[in-house]
Amino acid sequence: MMSLTEKFADMRAGVDALAAMGRNPFDIRFERILSSTVALLNGRPMLLLGTNNYLGLTFDAACVAESVRALQESGTGTTGSRIANGTYSGHALLEQQIADFYGRRSAMVFTTGYQANLGLISTLARREDHLLIDADSHASIYDASRLGAAEVIRFRHNDPEDLARRLRRLEGRPGDRIIVTEGIYSMLGDTAPLREIAAVKREMGACLIVDEAHSLGILGEHGRGLCEAAGVEADVDFVVGTFSKSLGAIGGFATSDLAGFELLRTVCRPYMFTASLPPAVIASVSASLARLASDSSLGALVVANSRKLYCGLAQAGFALGPEPNPIVAVKMPDRETAVRFWNRLVEEGLYVNLALPPATPGSLSLIRCSVSSAHTETQIERAVSIMTSIGRELRILQRAIATARAAG
Ligand SMILES: Cc1ncc(COP(=O)(O)O)c(C=O)c1O
Repeated sequence: MMSLTEKFADMRAGVDALAAMGRNPFDIRFERILSSTVALLNGRPMLLLGTNNYLGLTFDAACVAESVRALQESGTGTTGSRIANGTYSGHALLEQQIADFYGRRSAMVFTTGYQANLGLISTLARREDHLLIDADSHASIYDASRLGAAEVIRFRHNDPEDLARRLRRLEGRPGDRIIVTEGIYSMLGDTAPLREIAAVKREMGACLIVDEAHSLGILGEHGRGLCEAAGVEADVDFVVGTFSKSLGAIGGFATSDLAGFELLRTVCRPYMFTASLPPAVIASVSASLARLASDSSLGALVVANSRKLYCGLAQAGFALGPEPNPIVAVKMPDRETAVRFWNRLVEEGLYVNLALPPATPGSLSLIRCSVSSAHTETQIERAVSIMTSIGRELRILQRAIATARAAG
């Protein structure tokens, strides 16, 4: 066999080049997590602004207590898949809780959000079917399209007209048309034009799947996500989501009103051939979902904090993603500046995500912030102040404004 060093030589060169500019962004190791917004890195406290902990529930007293209780009562793991010994009553109760929260008939819990997309989409996308995915879709949606047997058609990001055009080209051909979109997109924090996409879906008689990974608990009066906020829940056949962001744990789900949904349990490979979530995770997710369902204050706080960060950075002259959602993407003029900026932020005690092509849309180099309801006003102000002074130091604020103007 070819050596791994030879096989992945390009990747290694890329990572080495990144590490040579400061530290390896793929190898950040927090020694201790002090709270949902602060962790120790190399002995120094870091303000966490890149963790998807939108509602700050990772240390919530009720979630932790429920998790500990389940751990003591039922052990550390299920040691089996959902279709063998890995379904405990907690898994089934959580599925009912999710279905009730969304006002739908059924729900399935998966071991990760990635597997929820992988499983649902690849299982539905059978031979002769047509899978229409947004060009900026998350990797789990792309991977699902490779695992499924349907024809895969990408439509332009957030462009319902392009979607409609591509669907029209399929006229006369057999098979289901399955559209996949996201609520809030994970790189730029923009929302899908869901009303328009739902109208296309109705006109074309397609099936619509919406991944609310970044919008659960944030958008909609009851926190059900963009489908609720846009008033199109009745048009959405499947909602997918994750437990690893607003709900502060790990796992994923799909929920639907469609008859026969339960049959997926015996055909969906990423559900069947992996171990189920441990009881402690199920218990904490159940507690965090109960909190989210009964208390909209955390959602309101994260929205307010997001606006504060977004406005502060915009005023400082950074070029940002189009909407003040909890993902605030700061557009860097180029890759090298992004890496230097990110390293300086870490040195100053601020942790954010460095997002580089090819993982980003439009080959953008991004500093990706994710805001939490647990951030205090002082923490948000501190983040803006650190980013602004480093922006000045690297002389990118004017360039950032120019880039924003050039982008229209
Ligand atoms: C849009 C989207 N869907 C699915 C996932 C996968 O979720 P998880 O990390 O919980 O597996 C992510 C994770 O980043 C995501 O951004």
